[in-house]
Amino acid sequence: MTNERENINVDSLWLIDERDKSGKHANVYHGNFIPQIPNQLIRRYTKENDTILDLFMGSGTTLYECENLNRNFIGFDINTEIIDYVKSKMTDTQNIKFKINECDVANETLFKEKIENSLSELDVEKAQLILAHPPYMDIVKFTEKAEDLSQIADLTTFVKQFAQVVKNAFPYLENKKYLGVVIADVYKKSEVVPLAFYVLDAVKRNFNVKLKGIIIKNIEGNRGKLRQKNIWQYRALKSDYFIFKHEYILVFKKEER
Ligand SMILES: C[S@@+](CC[C@H](N)C(=O)[O-])C[C@H]1O[C@@H](n2cnc3c(N)ncnc32)[C@H](O)[C@@H]1O
Repeated sequence: MTNERENINVDSLWLIDERDKSGKHANVYHGNFIPQIPNQLIRRYTKENDTILDLFMGSGTTLYECENLNRNFIGFDINTEIIDYVKSKMTDTQNIKFKINECDVANETLFKEKIENSLSELDVEKAQLILAHPPYMDIVKFTEKAEDLSQIADLTTFVKQFAQVVKNAFPYLENKKYLGVVIADVYKKSEVVPLAFYVLDAVKRNFNVKLKGIIIKNIEGNRGKLRQKNIWQYRALKSDYFIFKHEYILVFKKEER
């Protein structure tokens, strides 16, 4: 049996050379995160047979890690096509219990109904880890649906909607367990919008959590950016901005009221 605590990175700076492309990880979805992110958080904060709730599951990166690590999984996304793709990858899975939901996670009534059905289907009470990797506002559009957070260009509206999503999910996180938010800043109208800081602030203000970590992770290996490195360098130098090379993993711990 492998040692689950092996190579857990406890530093606040994660420099990861290469995306894990093993198993079901195929890097087919623009805007997916690297498998090492859920892998690290799952191994650090949960144990076998615990349940992970991924609010924006996209191409299923967290789910494949749950399968590798024997954790239950409940996932949500609004994108019908990507959900069908993930379901097609899971037909042979037997070692874990999982449930995939197509749903607008900001919709309180719908989310409540789906999460409660999912928990009861899996025969568990709560999740031991929540992961949230939302769109970074409208930088990458995922669907044309009006409820898709990637349709939101306005900062205040985005942060409000994201806080609503956390509010919907928070009651289903076991006390003293963790919420991980993966987010980056954006550049709009000729300036940096520190989206990650606004999101951090919203979570701290609205929920009874302790902030356990602000991890900075490199995005050095981004394929598109690597190919166009010289163009980006030229553009940045012609102007006065800096090229984003990092994103954040914010780790919160739920506290008793
Ligand atoms: C950054 S991607 C997540 C990628 C994922 N971590 C992966 O590795 O593939 C954000 C996802 O949020 C979904 N999304 C956007 N708005 C949503 C909403 N209101 N409810 C549920 N999912 C939403 C998008 O369809 C997209 O798949």
